[in-house]
Amino acid sequence: EFTLNSLDTFTDEEQLLRESVQRFAAEVVGPKVREMDEKEKMDPEIIKGLFEQGLMGIETSADHGGAESSFTAAIIAIEELAKVDPSVSVMCDVHNTLVNTVLRKYGSKEQCDKWLPQLATEKLGSFCLSEPASGSDAFALQTRAKKEGNEWVVNGSKMWITNSAEAEIFLIFANIDPSKGYKGITCFIATKDMGIEIAKKEEKLGIRASSTCTLNFDDLRIPEENVIGGEGKGYKIAIEILNEGRIGIAAQMLGLAQGAFDKAVPYTYQRQQFGQPVGTFQGMAFQIAEAAVQLQSARLLTYNAARRKEEGKSFTQEAAMAKYLASVVAQKVSGSAIEWAGGVGFTRETGIEKYWRDSKIGAIYEGTSNIQLQTIAKFIQKQYS
Ligand code: CAA
Ligand code: FAD
Repeated sequence: EFTLNSLDTFTDEEQLLRESVQRFAAEVVGPKVREMDEKEKMDPEIIKGLFEQGLMGIETSADHGGAESSFTAAIIAIEELAKVDPSVSVMCDVHNTLVNTVLRKYGSKEQCDKWLPQLATEKLGSFCLSEPASGSDAFALQTRAKKEGNEWVVNGSKMWITNSAEAEIFLIFANIDPSKGYKGITCFIATKDMGIEIAKKEEKLGIRASSTCTLNFDDLRIPEENVIGGEGKGYKIAIEILNEGRIGIAAQMLGLAQGAFDKAVPYTYQRQQFGQPVGTFQGMAFQIAEAAVQLQSARLLTYNAARRKEEGKSFTQEAAMAKYLASVVAQKVSGSAIEWAGGVGFTRETGIEKYWRDSKIGAIYEGTSNIQLQTIAKFIQKQYS
């Protein structure tokens, strides 16, 4: 039987993970969502809980302290967390789909042995690509690294870095040879105690419990063995990882939309006006049905992209479509959810308005909606010209 909010293609293991993340989200995250949003701060107990639940090394091998699950499992966890709090979801998303994946995919055996266990069990990671003058045009980054003896000396700054107030491990993209253009971009792994300055923390419209800071590097010294994937390989690492990461953001937006839907729809069947539940007026029922279609479309695109990636098939275009559509659906459904609940939807108390505030970020980070459309357009042009 078809039920909204699920797929019948999950394996038994994925289904079990889904249920355990649902329990964690409801019991541990749920009670803290409003306070964290108002204080603009992630509760450290939640970060600890994510590690204890095995959600910070979902695809990491058991040898390295991880859960050794599938990419789809990571996507499920991100979706389920976002139903309750998109801020907690993005923390888990960046840590798994960006930071851990860079190491698993491009790290040497020594680097994986050193960093993956820490990332799976205790230390939060950040992915540092964007800068004040390079967002969409990410490969124009201005951070520079120069070799001195057996160290790299990094100067520059990063902006908009998720998890950075709490993170201890940072993947930093810097150009070691600007004469080669983006082919000079190199990926480094660094720790906070090497001297990374965590500067301005942004005050945001949504995902307020997720930290977003500027980082400054003033002669930051990184050991030479901390280059990931080879000199000049950073641009490829960044974009290949972002292709995968975009499926994570699609899952975050999907979960967000489902969370708003799940809060508002039951209310429409309780609330009576003109002697009947408001959700049963055709004008309301059709909007709810339309939202259900949009949710299911986003779900199918997201999990199709995830499975394709997992099966080693091409997935870049599918990931861009999933992220684009899920971001549109998240804004649309969370906005409608406020209206379906009437005045109470507009108050802080129900938590519905928060989903709408949180939804705006989906069209901005990990490549704006225009960047996704540009990626899709390039594929179409290739196929049809
Ligand atoms: N997949 C694989 N390779 C790609 C690619 C893709 N989607 N897009 C571009 N490339 C490669 C090209 O093949 C080319 O490589 P080669 O020279 O080796 O062939 C190289 O990148 C440059 O290609 P273009 O000249 O077409 O690319 P560009 O310079 O115009 O823009 C881009 C490339 C910076 C990747 C841009 O398309 C883009 O995606 N911008 C958005 C940046 C982004 O997503 N930032 C996210 C930061 S992290 C974050 O946001 C985390 C968070 O919030 C939670
Ligand atoms: P711009 O690139 O200046 O874009 C402005 C507008 O111009 C957008 O509408 C865009 O679509 C449009 N535009 C730009 N170029 C084109 C084009 N070629 N064609 C058509 N339209 C175009 N970055 C990280 O590296 N790590 C993180 O952890 C991280 N976390 C973030 C968290 C938050 C809360 C935010 C807000 C951002 C985060 N980012 C992170 C940065 C994020 O990836 C960038 O904000 C994003 O890539 C857009 O860059 P920008 O803000 O400079 O916008």
